[in-house]
Amino acid sequence: MNTRHVIELSPSGKTFEAGDELLLDAMLASGLSVPFSCRRGACGSCKVVVAEGQYRARQLAPNAPAPCYPLAANEMLLCQSHACGDMRLEIPGWSLDTPALSVEAQVLSKCALSPDIIELVLMPDLPLAVRAGQYLKFRLVDGDSRCFSIANLPAEDDGRLVFQIRQVRGGLFSEAVLGDLEAGDVLQLEGPFGACTWQDVDDSPVVLFATGTGYAGIKPILLSALKRNVEVTLYWGGAQPADFYDRVFLDQSVIDHPRFHWHPVLASQGRVQDVALGHGHHWQVAQVYACGNGAMIRQVREQCLDAGLPAHRFVAEAFVPSGGAGTQAPTPAFDPIWEKIGPRYSFDGMLAARDQSIRALAAIASRLRVGMTTGEALDMAAEQLQAMGASHTWHPTYIRFGADTVRPPREGIDRQRRLRASDIVVVDLGPVWDGYEGDYGDTFVFGDAPLHLGCTTALHEVFDETRDAWLRGLTGRELYDFAEQSAVAKGWRLARNLAGHRLADFPHALFENKELADLDIPPSEMAWVLEIQLCHPTEPIGGFFEDILMLDA
Ligand SMILES: Cc1cc2nc3c(=O)[nH]c(=O)nc-3n(C[C@H](O)[C@H](O)[C@H](O)COP(=O)(O)OP(=O)(O)OC[C@H]3O[C@@H](n4cnc5c(N)ncnc54)[C@H](O)[C@@H]3O)c2cc1C
Ligand code: FES
Repeated sequence: MNTRHVIELSPSGKTFEAGDELLLDAMLASGLSVPFSCRRGACGSCKVVVAEGQYRARQLAPNAPAPCYPLAANEMLLCQSHACGDMRLEIPGWSLDTPALSVEAQVLSKCALSPDIIELVLMPDLPLAVRAGQYLKFRLVDGDSRCFSIANLPAEDDGRLVFQIRQVRGGLFSEAVLGDLEAGDVLQLEGPFGACTWQDVDDSPVVLFATGTGYAGIKPILLSALKRNVEVTLYWGGAQPADFYDRVFLDQSVIDHPRFHWHPVLASQGRVQDVALGHGHHWQVAQVYACGNGAMIRQVREQCLDAGLPAHRFVAEAFVPSGGAGTQAPTPAFDPIWEKIGPRYSFDGMLAARDQSIRALAAIASRLRVGMTTGEALDMAAEQLQAMGASHTWHPTYIRFGADTVRPPREGIDRQRRLRASDIVVVDLGPVWDGYEGDYGDTFVFGDAPLHLGCTTALHEVFDETRDAWLRGLTGRELYDFAEQSAVAKGWRLARNLAGHRLADFPHALFENKELADLDIPPSEMAWVLEIQLCHPTEPIGGFFEDILMLDA
């Protein structure tokens, strides 16, 4: 008899029933939202804390690999376990209510901060999980939308959302809608989105740049930085003194936080980056954030990198105007069978997850040290992803040194293998950010061995040529045939068992899990990851690069 057990999920109190089936299958059948991915005990997505109750491990088929995800004594994998009785479980970092993409919010107040800047305070109908620095999209009646940054830390403000909005002449939102808004009115919002967020990685000095209402995106990052005892400097550019509309708060913060300084920079006096560079920050170890007009962001980045700032320590959001021609992301037309997406899927969310994954990869690569073991590198990577705000990894992090670079991801590696002074390293990340799957991997060379350098050159050439072929309309299957020929022409072998895959709002594992190399239609933008693994024909040397297929990569 298949006895049914009651499984309670804390702290929500929601329950589902499970019998002989795997707990993951029982939970999925109940319709509750479940974090999962690999179903084989490798990624850790389905990890839960067992607060009460007994369970037994799944019986493995002969020769099946044992689950390898490391667990604490009170943790269990839903995909590898059956209940033996009633249980109480907790799923850290997961909300059972699928986070909505759209929310309604009521206007609480509206007031002028300066002659053309309005502070708008809203209360959403559901509390939003917002990372400091993110923005929301305000939906207009014609289906279009406008982006505005959340200028506070809602979790510390009873869930309220504060916006600082410049009124632009003829602005569909900032003039036509905002002008008439009154307390009690309801607005439709989407999000939150954005990867220009507080990184919380170490105690580096923080340098902040804003122009105009770019300050709205910077303020929550400033509030987060002030909670740490680190050096924080803000450069805020404006056209006139009234543009520094939060001066009272900033002046008080200088008194309250001796390690905080801010500099209003009038356009007539110079540019924010020139003032900052004149102050001689320790750019090699700084963490820089910039929000505002695109020209400022480009120049700050260029000049800070020239002064020694590592590229991954520059985090920015350009406040491009939404109105006018062609600035909205196109609505994707996905194949209904092979390109299903979840309720939260959005271009903005996928783009932000890509940005944050690229940054995480660079941060992890910068922390690789000659002499460290693969195991130590994996622990460091897990710590980095967590510090940067990843809630899960939808596939395990893969780091491979030397001869391990020719192994496919699922094959075991030597955790004791040490990184040598002359070596080649593959790092492959699959983090989940704000409910969106990121996936980015690359290959790094230590020393200057010609075969190692030749491998990364060939790898990127094969990837770029294959991506160009995608732009010409090839199917997934044709892309991998093309990549194979491209690799051979360069004297390398394409490892065809790494064959590309879907990416979406987490978990894409809910949908058909087809490989890109088996797809007989041209893959759509922002739905598929192109993976290229090259191996040397005779030497144990390999390289790996992957990225989501997108038009403006
Ligand atoms: C991620 C992100 C976050 C943003 N956060 C904020 C924020 O917190 N506060 C804020 O005030 N703005 C912010 N912006 C900018 C804001 O979204 C745009 O200015 C938006 O176009 C304003 O919408 P609107 O309907 O009022 O004007 P629209 O109808 O979009 O524009 C009307 C006309 O004015 C022009 N225009 C629009 N904005 C500007 C501008 N800033 N300068 C000069 N010309 C402009 C347009 O090209 C168009 O011709 C952000 C933008 C992005 C991408
Ligand atoms: S470990 Fe269970 S889904 Fe990956």
